[in-house]
Amino acid sequence: MDKIVIQGGRRLKGTVEVSGAKNAALPILFSSILTEGWNQFCRIPELRDINTTCKLLSKLGLVIERKKGSIRISSNAMRSYTATYDLVKTMRASVLVMGPLLARVKKAKVSLPGGCAIGARPINLHLKAFEQMGAKIDIKEGYVIAKAKKLHGAKIHFDTVTVTGTENVMMAAVLANGETIIENAAQEPEVTDLAEALSKMGAEIQGAGTNTMTIQGVKELQGCDHEVIADRIEAGTFLIAAAMTGGDVRIQRIPPSYLEALILKLREAGVTITEEADAIHVVGHLPVKAVDLITAPFPGFATDFQAQFMALMTMAKGTSVITENIFENRFLHAQELMRMGANIRIEGRKAIIQGVPRLSGAPVMASDLRASAALIIAGLMAKGITEIHRVYHIDRGYERIEKKFRKLGARIKRIKVKY
Ligand code: EPZ
Repeated sequence: MDKIVIQGGRRLKGTVEVSGAKNAALPILFSSILTEGWNQFCRIPELRDINTTCKLLSKLGLVIERKKGSIRISSNAMRSYTATYDLVKTMRASVLVMGPLLARVKKAKVSLPGGCAIGARPINLHLKAFEQMGAKIDIKEGYVIAKAKKLHGAKIHFDTVTVTGTENVMMAAVLANGETIIENAAQEPEVTDLAEALSKMGAEIQGAGTNTMTIQGVKELQGCDHEVIADRIEAGTFLIAAAMTGGDVRIQRIPPSYLEALILKLREAGVTITEEADAIHVVGHLPVKAVDLITAPFPGFATDFQAQFMALMTMAKGTSVITENIFENRFLHAQELMRMGANIRIEGRKAIIQGVPRLSGAPVMASDLRASAALIIAGLMAKGITEIHRVYHIDRGYERIEKKFRKLGARIKRIKVKY
């Protein structure tokens, strides 16, 4: 298992290019179950979650040809409809296999994902929607077994905005009989990107990117060529890291419109940000000012930036209050930041952070993907050496992260550890 070692104190400077979005690439790869013929997807990041998805899809019988940054994929030889425990337990997004399987072969057997480090994360809303579309759902021996004689359109109203729930229902609806309306749909750019890929395959979708989507089912879909959008969470992580170090960084190949809520908060904290057509230029000034924030579905402040922003606030001037409204347990990084000298108090869904002049390096443990990024950001400005353990979390969602930070001047390296 690897660890990441950072010697803090360097101001980040230079340019960095954003990779393709993990959370767009995953549903789009699963959508290839829906089509006849070959799909060609590019700007696919090299990540562990992408490897897991390819493994799962090949177990179903899909043929996958992978080159650096692109994937050709065909479902013509699909022979199975089961997503097994060993894969689902390593990646919850495996549940995205359910909508397309139900649509294409009218059955799916998927290991029920358990809770995870950031919360209980049930999939009840996915299952309720499939039932409304005519599927029968059973849960047996840890597996969800979904079957439908015919899948039909339905009016789905999500009680809570759910990203993968919306995506799963979209993929079921494109081949269902008749019209599906999804109300209180997720509006994340990754959902819109999936809609775009499905439309290229021949699906009829209206309203993607708004809170109501209307989908007319079609008889069949054909393979398509599609380039995945930029990873806004990776881009935002670099924005926050630049702010943390008082740096001067240009983040390229990212539409600023994906990051408006974060950009507003960073400006409030005193960071200078210039938006360009497909890039963001950030200049940090230390110390940043403490600001409060509340996480919310897109276009609100993303929960996937909460940990990184908390790292920034640990060295801000003043006190900030961060309210986590999406996941009930997404504060595990706070304990690790406190080991580095941060002053944080957790009260239910609120974290109260009193800025300190400087963190100090320490050995810390990553609890989930974005928590790992937060610890790197903290380590970049801490005095001395920070060692981050369990970095396999970071490889799930950040492509070559230490190389990208090194290019910006950070003293960061990965070390192989034998336990
Ligand atoms: C997606 O997870 C992302 N994952 C997450 O990215 C992200 O944090 C999250 O959306 C919120 O933006 C992918 O896109 C693969 P939700 P998802 O369903 O879809 C509750 C990362 O670091 N809920 O939108 O699983 C749920 O418990 C991550 O890349 C139900 O109650 O999240 C949560 O409180 C981690 N029942 C809220 O809704 C359901 O059936 C939003 O979750 C479904 C969700």
